[in-house]
Amino acid sequence: TLRGLDLRAEIERLRKERNAVILAHYYQTPELQDMADFVGDSLELSRKAAETDADVIAFCGVRFMAEVAKILSPQKTVILPDMDAGCSLEDSCPPDEFGAFRAAHPDHLSLTYINCSAAVKAHSDIIVTSSSAEKIINSLPKEQKIIFAPDKHLGAWLNRKTGRDMLLWDGTCIVHEAFSETELLKLKMQYPDAPVAAHPECPAHILDHADMIGSTSAILKFALESPSDLIIVATEPHIIHQMEKKAPHKTFIGAPGADGKCSCNMCPYMALNTVEKLYLALRDLKPELDVPEALRVRALLPLNRMLAIAS
Ligand code: 13P
Ligand code: SF4
Repeated sequence: TLRGLDLRAEIERLRKERNAVILAHYYQTPELQDMADFVGDSLELSRKAAETDADVIAFCGVRFMAEVAKILSPQKTVILPDMDAGCSLEDSCPPDEFGAFRAAHPDHLSLTYINCSAAVKAHSDIIVTSSSAEKIINSLPKEQKIIFAPDKHLGAWLNRKTGRDMLLWDGTCIVHEAFSETELLKLKMQYPDAPVAAHPECPAHILDHADMIGSTSAILKFALESPSDLIIVATEPHIIHQMEKKAPHKTFIGAPGADGKCSCNMCPYMALNTVEKLYLALRDLKPELDVPEALRVRALLPLNRMLAIAS
């Protein structure tokens, strides 16, 4: 509570007063996930943001996700509990350097993971998410040359899956890079029948041990539908909250980092958002996302291409 306020009730009141919708990513704390009108992966959250008739979108996720909401729904007020909620993939791809990379490969199509800034999106031909990338790549002619940024692990996995030879930008997610192959193998020895579900942002030495690879929503679906009662989850461990809610009889173990625990694999950017900050954001309608119109229009084009092909 903030000086004795019942924050849950206050957020509920403000949500109605402001005609706000609360969208949350699976990597948010259980409290924030439980307050949200909708919890989903990046693609689903983009779709919700584009469709909603709310006046305010309170985005519990990282900044690029809220930025996408603003690009798709410019007439809405989009607020993010903490404007410092960035992403290591976004940081690894400065717009100027990316613009130069793109210019150096004029015969290549630029496919870009949604985890990047609006300025990088504006330099891109088609945006992809982990749930839509394969379908989008397969929709392109086999001989089409492609540059892929910023996640090199996702890019390498997509190259393997689609038989392409996309030129990869050298970016990574600090969270998915932190899983330890040695510790994962120890866990698999302990639970030989437990399937491993992994996010494609993991490096190949983790993906090589996975029974299923997909977006957060795909991982959740797999965990719920798997006949196994024990599942090893190689992505940010807050998603386990939804698994435990929907399948309380099952056991979900977060894949470990080098210390043998999954706690080192929490996203420090997602963790900046709190219930207190969500309350203040709804009360004050800030921090508010603002994308200059000229930039927004350029970033919208590759995002709309994704939504059209992915649907
Ligand atoms: P999803 O699209 O799978 O939810 O991924 C978002 C993300 O940031 C993973 O680190
Ligand atoms: Fe970015 Fe990784 Fe955090 Fe996802 S988990 S928001 S990719 S730093």
